[in-house]
Parts: sequence; C-alpha cells; structure tokens
Amino acid sequence: MKGIRVKTVRFGIIGCGLMGREFASAAARWPHLADIDVRPEIIAVCDTNKSLTEWFHKNFGSVKQVTTDYQELLANPKVESVYIAVPHNLHQEFYCAALDAGKDLMGEKPFGIDKAACDAILACIEKHPERFVRCSSEFPFAPALQRIGEMIEKKVFGTILEVNSGFLHSSDMNPDKPINWKRMIELNGEYGVMGDLGLHACHMFLRAGWYPKNVRAILSNVVKNRPDGKGGRAPCKTWDNATLFCEAQQPDLPDMFPMTIKTQRIAPGQKNTWYFEVLGTKVSARFSTKNINSLEVMEYAGGEQAWERIDMGHETTFKSITGGIFEFGFSDAILQMWAAFVYEREHRSLPKKFGGCIRADEVAFTHKLFTAALESNKKRSTVALDS
Ligand SMILES: NC(=O)c1ccc[n+]([C@@H]2O[C@H](COP(=O)([O-])OP(=O)(O)OC[C@H]3O[C@@H](n4cnc5c(N)ncnc54)[C@H](O)[C@@H]3O)[C@@H](O)[C@H]2O)c1
Repeated sequence: MKGIRVKTVRFGIIGCGLMGREFASAAARWPHLADIDVRPEIIAVCDTNKSLTEWFHKNFGSVKQVTTDYQELLANPKVESVYIAVPHNLHQEFYCAALDAGKDLMGEKPFGIDKAACDAILACIEKHPERFVRCSSEFPFAPALQRIGEMIEKKVFGTILEVNSGFLHSSDMNPDKPINWKRMIELNGEYGVMGDLGLHACHMFLRAGWYPKNVRAILSNVVKNRPDGKGGRAPCKTWDNATLFCEAQQPDLPDMFPMTIKTQRIAPGQKNTWYFEVLGTKVSARFSTKNINSLEVMEYAGGEQAWERIDMGHETTFKSITGGIFEFGFSDAILQMWAAFVYEREHRSLPKKFGGCIRADEVAFTHKLFTAALESNKKRSTVALDS
C-alpha cells in the first residue's frame, strides 16, 4: 500500500458471538486488501459471556476495553463506530443507544425484532442524520453477484420473466437439536426464519430497485418443540420455512413479473445455500453458493438456448492480494462487506452500485414484506405492499 495514507476507524464490537468474531477476523486480515485507504481497528469489545471476550483480548492487542456492559463501551469517546451483533430482541435498544452516543453503526439483520422496532431504529437514524449506518449482508459481494449487479445496471436481461432468490439451510433438520435463541420467538421474533435469513435473500433485488408489490406467503412450523438442554422439551414457535410468492416491478416499467423468495431452516441437503436467479427474454443469469466460483449465463438471440458457465475467480470489488484465478469464500465476502462499510463511511460514495452494504431504507422494506407475509399466511391470501 505504498503511497496511500491509510486512515483508521476505531471500532467497538457489542456481541462477540459468531458474527462478532467474523468481523474481528476480517479486521485482522486487512492487509489482504490491496489498496484501500481506510482500515478498522478494534479497540473495545462487549459481551455478557466473558469467555468470548477473552478470545478477543488474547488475539487482539488493539483491544483496550473489555466489558459486559454495552453502555460502558458506548461511553468510550475513543470508539467511533460500533458493530452490534446481538439477539434480535436487543437490536432496537442497542442500535438507538449507539446512535444517541454519537457512534456510526453497522447493525445486524433483521434490524429490529419486528416492524415496530425497525421503525423506532429508523426514527433514531433520522434524529442523527450525520451518523453512517448500514446493515450486515455479505453474499452480494461474491464475484458472480457483483457481475450480475453490473448486468442489472446495464439492463441486459430484456423483459424480466422471473426472479428467484433464496437462502436455504438444513441446520434444523434434526428435531433433537437443542433449542437456542434463534428458535425462541421472544428473542428471534415472530418472523422466525424470515428474520433470520430473509434480509440476505432480499439484498440483490432491493439494490436493483425491483420491489415486490404484493406477497402470498406460506409459512411452516415443522418442528414444534425441541430439547431444552435441561432434559425436557421446550416449545419452538418460530417459522422454520417461508416461501413467498410476489409480483415485482422494475422502477421504470409498468409490467409486473413473478418473484419467489424462499428462506428455509429445514431444507434437505442444503447446508448454507444462497441463490439468485434472473430469467429474461434476452439474457438469464443464475448463481448459487453451492458453486461459489461459477456464474451461469444464457443469452438468447434466436438460436439454441444453452447455459454458459463462467469461472469467476477472485474478481472482487475491493482489490485483494489473492490471485485473480483463485476461488472466493465466505470469509472473503465478510472482508469485502467490511471494506465496503469503512470505504463508504469515509468517502460517502461507492466504487460500484452493488458493491455497498445494505442501507436502512432497504432494510425497512424487508420489514414491510415480512409483516405482510405474516398477514398473508394467516389469512391465506395475497397482501398488497406499498414501496
Ligand atoms: N450476516 C450474517 O451472515 C449473519 C449470520 C449469523 C447471524 N447474524 C446476525 O447477527 C446477530 C448475532 O447473531 P450471532 O449468530 O452472532 O449470535 P450469537 O449467539 O453467536 O452471538 C450473540 C452474542 O450476543 C451476546 N449478548 C447477548 N446479550 C447481550 C448483552 N445484553 N450485551 C452484550 N452481549 C450480549 C451473547 O452472549 C452472544 O455472544 C443476529 O442479529 C443475527 O441475525 C448474521
């Protein structure tokens, strides 16, 4: 990075579980990025579980504050920006407190346990327009998705016939897996799997501006109780699987097209499959994390219809030291997402439309969608959405 003056953003992490550690690992790997002029430095961590904060203390010399009280971390004047990765029931309180304390914020999805909580967070953001706020969602940073983003910008698809987007897990296939907070309605929320996986499945089409106009949802609670970890069983009231059938529209065109959004925690054979597919009259494109290195494209000009498979390699938005032919992975997506956060925070612009973290207004739409989906499932009918 010879010649580039690198600015440091001092971070605090609240919630040092799965995602808190992913961020820390990305920050430790920052020299992997070739020419970015800003970098995060983690100086404070907070978690009520002390064994987790010890991991940070041990591995990150930059961490000067370790606390179990998030208010103490927010009171630290050296902390400029926070990443908050805690259970959904705490989002509203913690995000609003962070903004009131003058910190920039990377929040986690679903950005409030329900629509009322998300609306309250949006009101706090409005109160602090000078604060930079984004939500974590990493999959669109995969090179194939960045390429699809460019195709969307160039409007190559012709008339859009159909869009299918989804995120499928099999992590709850085993009915004897003990319950954790992600299966508890009071901590995860009534959205269930939509609160857990839904935002990821919405990121691409929201950035494209392809807003669903209505939704017919089918939600399933397959495993109704699980081991409580104390020898008994606890009720499991969250939705395991959600299939949303929508009509969507491009911003400048009158015609609607069908869109499906699937989020499932009980999807046989799917460990962590995120997919996105656009079918158009001129060009179609599809991607799945099952084949992380591949982008499939089909161009139709009147002849044979044949899918072309392109090896994407490491064609990332934020240049890295990895050779261009090498494949991309989850931790690379996390690194790219954090590069996008600190870059946009610093420059208030993005190198690419699809190379940015999801914004609060985009997240707000997911709450409209998931709230409408709950209503649709209850009434077994289609619910209209305003966007
Ligand atoms: N972007 C992604 O791909 C992705 C993946 C998984 C989870 N998430 C989201 O990240 C958030 C956290 O999920 P996770 O999987 O890291 O969960 P986790 O359970 O691994 O971590 C949450 C942490 O919050 C801590 N915590 C709970 N109450 C606290 C409090 N009062 N003060 C401080 N810390 C507290 C817990 O001790 C725990 O360590 C959720 O919003 C979840 O939806 C995002």
